[in-house]
Amino acid sequence: MSRVILEVEGVTKHFGERALLEGAGVMLESGSGYVLTGGNGTGKTTFLRILAGLEPAEAGSLTFRGRTAAFDSYPEAFRRDILYVHQQPYLFRTGLLENIEYGLARRNVPSDQRRSKAVAALEWAGLADRHGVPPQKLSGGEKQRAALARARVLEPTLMLLDEPTANLDGEARKQVLELVTSLCTESHTVLIATHDPEIIRLAILNRLRIEAGRILVEE
Ligand SMILES: Nc1ncnc2c1ncn2[C@@H]1O[C@H](COP(=O)(O)OP(=O)(O)O)[C@@H](O)[C@H]1O
Ligand SMILES: [Mg+2]
Repeated sequence: MSRVILEVEGVTKHFGERALLEGAGVMLESGSGYVLTGGNGTGKTTFLRILAGLEPAEAGSLTFRGRTAAFDSYPEAFRRDILYVHQQPYLFRTGLLENIEYGLARRNVPSDQRRSKAVAALEWAGLADRHGVPPQKLSGGEKQRAALARARVLEPTLMLLDEPTANLDGEARKQVLELVTSLCTESHTVLIATHDPEIIRLAILNRLRIEAGRILVEE
């Protein structure tokens, strides 16, 4: 049986006169990690957002777990399973635990299970002792770790991480790198847009590069 979980073809996106993506496509295999590199403004964020159904494309189609759809009729069912994690995650001004539980509630996870799943997710992210802290008081690194926990707890089939270590350095960057590595070894399928040389160097990641509106497979 094919391990291909997502096949994307012919994504085209213009901003005004400028063609940002021109027939971009990609093929992702289940349980594999991918890094997507490319200069600033080459369309990495736009491409990830299109894959997650957060932004329209003018042309293109995706086949996800055997079901094919055009991007202009992006299936609601795909949104549950393809999650985009923003470079600068937005957290609600409630407690950290409530932020993690919110997505579980929206998916009708029974309330008695929500708390234990959320607590486990915060432990995974090394944030167990921060559960009552208002998110606006968290550091940039803690916010990114919280966003990764919030996505992971929903058990998505595919996670799209947008520059998870951007604007972080030192210990904060190292902690996020560890979580990213953990996601990639936990048999999740992960696609990471990044400039971070340490992420790019991770041997477990397959390398993709965006250039002139297309996605190229490296090596
Ligand atoms: N909503 C928008 N309206 C107009 N132009 C946009 C919009 N979003 C992105 N762009 C253009 O597309 C380019 C690529 O954006 P982006 O996908 O963020 O690239 P990357 O993530 O690789 O830096 C940007 O430089 C910008 O000029
Ligand atoms: Mg970007």
